[in-house]
Amino acid sequence: MTTVSDRYDPGPQIAQVGSINIGTRDIEKSLWFFRDLLGMEEVQRDGNVAYLRCYQEFGHHSLVLTEQDDAIVNAFSFRTRRPEDVELFYNDLQAQEIEAVEIPAGHEAGRGTAVRFLLPGGDHPFELYYDIDKPEADPSLRSRLPSNSSRRRGLGVRRIDHFNIQTAPGRINQAEQWVRDNLGFKRREFAKFADSNTIMASWMSVTAQMHDLAIVANFEEKSAQMHHLAFNLESFSDSLAAADILRDLDVSYGAGPGKHGIGQAMYLYVHDPGSDHRVELYSGGYLIFDPDWDPLEWKAVDFPEGLTWYGDPIDTTPGNRGRDTTGSAPLYLSRQLA
Ligand SMILES: [Fe+2]
Repeated sequence: MTTVSDRYDPGPQIAQVGSINIGTRDIEKSLWFFRDLLGMEEVQRDGNVAYLRCYQEFGHHSLVLTEQDDAIVNAFSFRTRRPEDVELFYNDLQAQEIEAVEIPAGHEAGRGTAVRFLLPGGDHPFELYYDIDKPEADPSLRSRLPSNSSRRRGLGVRRIDHFNIQTAPGRINQAEQWVRDNLGFKRREFAKFADSNTIMASWMSVTAQMHDLAIVANFEEKSAQMHHLAFNLESFSDSLAAADILRDLDVSYGAGPGKHGIGQAMYLYVHDPGSDHRVELYSGGYLIFDPDWDPLEWKAVDFPEGLTWYGDPIDTTPGNRGRDTTGSAPLYLSRQLA
């Protein structure tokens, strides 16, 4: 008997945000932040690289910390829907003459073959993969709840939520259109510059979440900056408790708790003391099940309310306060794999 999926081939698709690999100048400080404070599980440590996941994630990792001089983002990784999609995406990139390289299994521990390329219009290093190990947590960390890969600990980040990346206003329309046309992201909410067709910000998803990826214009004309990576908390009350705890610690505090008008989630921004990358603790928000969702446009005059419905205004400068946050040149693509 054939199943529906045997009879109908939708082509390659992205299933979810998978993981992010960030450079940190001080891996011990970053481990203190992500593992001991946020409550992530350190799944594996290979020298200067640590692999972590949240308490409701079964895949090997959603965060890779690489100790290195440049606290740049080494890779934004997305998981495909089917194993064969990795090669199908690779073929698509080749057909578009976009430089892409195959990364062998194990390049990131626990992960299968991936394809790596720089986002057209953005130059952010993207990686697509499907295979990922699902190791059991150490017995000392296991939960009795089968839907938890480990016991809830620390501030209780339960899964990676989204990436917010920036690119130059002159190229943002290309980047935003490319991820929609080629990776299947759907535009959910967006804003354009006043009296212009240029995207100022766009929130997009491949899941029912209101966004898995946001692309925002960078006012310094830089083409590859990260604004933040976000982890999901279960509830607004978790965000408030996190703020209370974080205020008493030596952690650089950004903004929040506050509520976004766009997406209607609660935000709290802090900085990892090892890498200085901005991390959002994100809770709530609405889900989209409507297959013909009409993207919601925010006019420039209302945009501040979209960013902050209530709470502290958000710092819109790049992630680790002006320093480059992602590799920006095509050279980086090959240098990384050399
Ligand atoms: Fe965010």
